[in-house]
Amino acid sequence: MPKTVGVIGGGLMGAGIAQVFVAAGAEVSVVETGDATAARQRVADGLAKAAERGKLADALDAALTRVSVVDDVSALPPAAELVVEAVPEVPALKVDVLTKAEQVIGEHAVLASNTSSLSIAGLGSALRRPDRFLGLHFFNPVPASGLVEIVTAPGTAAGVIEQARGWVRGLDKTDVVVRDSPGFATSRLGVLLGLEAIRMLEEGVADAEAIDTAMELGYRHPMGPLRSTDLVGLDVRLAIAEYLHATLGDRFAPPQLLRDKVADGQLGRKTGQGFHRWA
Ligand SMILES: NC(=O)c1ccc[n+]([C@@H]2O[C@H](COP(=O)([O-])OP(=O)(O)OC[C@H]3O[C@@H](n4cnc5c(N)ncnc54)[C@H](O)[C@@H]3O)[C@@H](O)[C@H]2O)c1
Repeated sequence: MPKTVGVIGGGLMGAGIAQVFVAAGAEVSVVETGDATAARQRVADGLAKAAERGKLADALDAALTRVSVVDDVSALPPAAELVVEAVPEVPALKVDVLTKAEQVIGEHAVLASNTSSLSIAGLGSALRRPDRFLGLHFFNPVPASGLVEIVTAPGTAAGVIEQARGWVRGLDKTDVVVRDSPGFATSRLGVLLGLEAIRMLEEGVADAEAIDTAMELGYRHPMGPLRSTDLVGLDVRLAIAEYLHATLGDRFAPPQLLRDKVADGQLGRKTGQGFHRWA
């Protein structure tokens, strides 16, 4: 496992990523340009919960001493063996923090992006060492999720991929290695199933409960495609579908029912109503 890790962005995902590396014994430096106190609290709360569940190898106090929060990428530890960026999904912002991080860390360090949709080759094109860059796509909530999707660009060095796979195993998670392509493996398949389920609703094949139950009990999916769309957020799903429609073609065309619900403010669990009622 890397002894020293940098995480850029201490929001929902960054705090989770920081937490799991701290729990695995690493010293983690989180770069947060917004509310640093809140970012530190997110990591500390997560570690406290992990301690309650007996998932920390050492004492909570000791784990907390391994977390620091800084306000600029230039303050990342030069000894960092891995730096993962988890700033908002804005290409220019990600390129900016990645190129700055590359100037601080050593030439053998690995740089990674937690992007859920952007091209890894595109984000890495401004780097001096694109061979040491890849996607490490963690899932929400990071501590409870068993998967990390490793996204490789054509220029990513084979040794870097193997190193990343070892680290993912060290976090007690499973990796899948996926070539840099729109939606990677997870979003591409998950969104397609969700879109087809919405089209089935439109066509009156069955109601939402029946469609979800069919997949949950018939195919042993832990959650049906409409319930899952509700959890992710219909607006988030629509944005991904539009991107996949533009890059992969008509099979990802968003159904009218999805557009109508988003326009109507029915965004899923976060608004209390999506394809199901959550209130
Ligand atoms: N939310 C999810 O379910 C999920 C799942 C997988 C991947 N992702 C990806 O993870 C990334 C982060 O998403 P999130 O949900 O954690 O967002 P978030 O808004 O919760 O966190 C982003 C954090 O980055 C900080 N930030 C902004 N600019 C910065 C800068 N220049 N330097 C340092 N920090 C900066 C913000 O203050 C914020 O705390 C995105 O690329 C997103 O697509 C999100």
